[in-house]
Amino acid sequence: MKKILPLLLAMSLAAPAYADTPSDVEVLHWWTSGGEARSVDNLKEKMKKEGYIWKDFAVAGRAGQSAINTLRIRALSGNPPDVAQIKGPEIQEWGKLGFLASLDDVAAKQHWNELIPRRVQEYLKVDGHYVAVPFNIHRVNWLWANPEVFEKADAELPVTLDDFFVAAEKIKAAGYIPLALGSEAWQESTLFESIALAIMGPEDFRKAFIDKDTALLTGEKMRETLLTFRKMKQYTDADSPGRNWSDTTSLVIEGKAAMQMMGDWAKGEFLAANKEAGKDFLCIPAPGTANQFSFNIDSFVFFKNSNAGKTDSQRTLAKLILDPDFQREFNMSKGSIPVRVDSDMEGFDTCGKESMQAFLRAAATDNLVPSLSHNMAVGRASQIALFDVISRFFDDDDVSVDETMRYIRAAVLADNL
Ligand code: BGC
Repeated sequence: MKKILPLLLAMSLAAPAYADTPSDVEVLHWWTSGGEARSVDNLKEKMKKEGYIWKDFAVAGRAGQSAINTLRIRALSGNPPDVAQIKGPEIQEWGKLGFLASLDDVAAKQHWNELIPRRVQEYLKVDGHYVAVPFNIHRVNWLWANPEVFEKADAELPVTLDDFFVAAEKIKAAGYIPLALGSEAWQESTLFESIALAIMGPEDFRKAFIDKDTALLTGEKMRETLLTFRKMKQYTDADSPGRNWSDTTSLVIEGKAAMQMMGDWAKGEFLAANKEAGKDFLCIPAPGTANQFSFNIDSFVFFKNSNAGKTDSQRTLAKLILDPDFQREFNMSKGSIPVRVDSDMEGFDTCGKESMQAFLRAAATDNLVPSLSHNMAVGRASQIALFDVISRFFDDDDVSVDETMRYIRAAVLADNL
């Protein structure tokens, strides 16, 4: 990103005037699965009621990687959308390049400083100014289970990693897929992240991936993480390569697979299929991570625009996202918890309530970690490199642990290049 700075700036200055009408607001995002689309439709409706037309620019796939690639191309050619789904350290990258509009006035009117947890605010500000609005807090370290399959296999829900392997053997013997996984790099990294959290613990996890402690990145706990990760492969199915995450969740919904380790956007798929939390499906912390909370915050940023009408529509959208009713409605169907500290959790299902309790507990006990596989812990350069290394190790049994640890170290350091 740093190297293309002059080009990006030149292109953005040369950007043509916007030809579309001020009441349009073009939004680039990747919420396209059944559960995601249902959640974002609510916001589209609310914008319509305010008199604005939401122009959808949805790019499916790879947990946003495809959307972000499209965004880069559009921004480079001087034609960014009005709004885009960007999160984590990448907000800083775009903000520092001067692309993002300040939201300080909306933030002041709506009292964001009081409403949004401090830890979350850090991600939303560039040089002290708000440039992003948050939707939610997703927990990544969850395990989704089909209770009927567990019962038929006479298996226990796993609390530890050892329990996981005991249960997986029984489920396999009973003829079901123990672990639903789509072998896309980001899905594999999501699984890797939960195992790393269980084995390394939150402190070493943060030291390794955020402080870039090279001894930890190539140490014994990393070795154990990689070996455990690879051991899980035998419990996935032959159709795993390339399968997207929501089709993978469907395997658990339909009772073909027993478990999926995935962030709580997976709950959105169960709900969209009319399944009930605690009855048709269960949510438990990923094995070995009961006290921990790997957080992932969805947010929108707003591209600078000289058209006053546009600015109004952008500001209206920012305000709606933090509206208390929208926070409840959106997060109930999306699977996440509201980001507003004053949110009422009454009416949320058991998974939502448990997630909120887990978040508060983890925040109070220093057990919160930014998600490694969902762009919260590292910048884009490291993220892409990590996806490649982790996926290569999982997909190819000939790739050694030692070589992978060296590459993980290099990937984590890639942001510094
Ligand atoms: C986003 C979620 C989204 C998921 C799958 C994650 O990175 O934070 O909002 O549902 O990807 O598309």
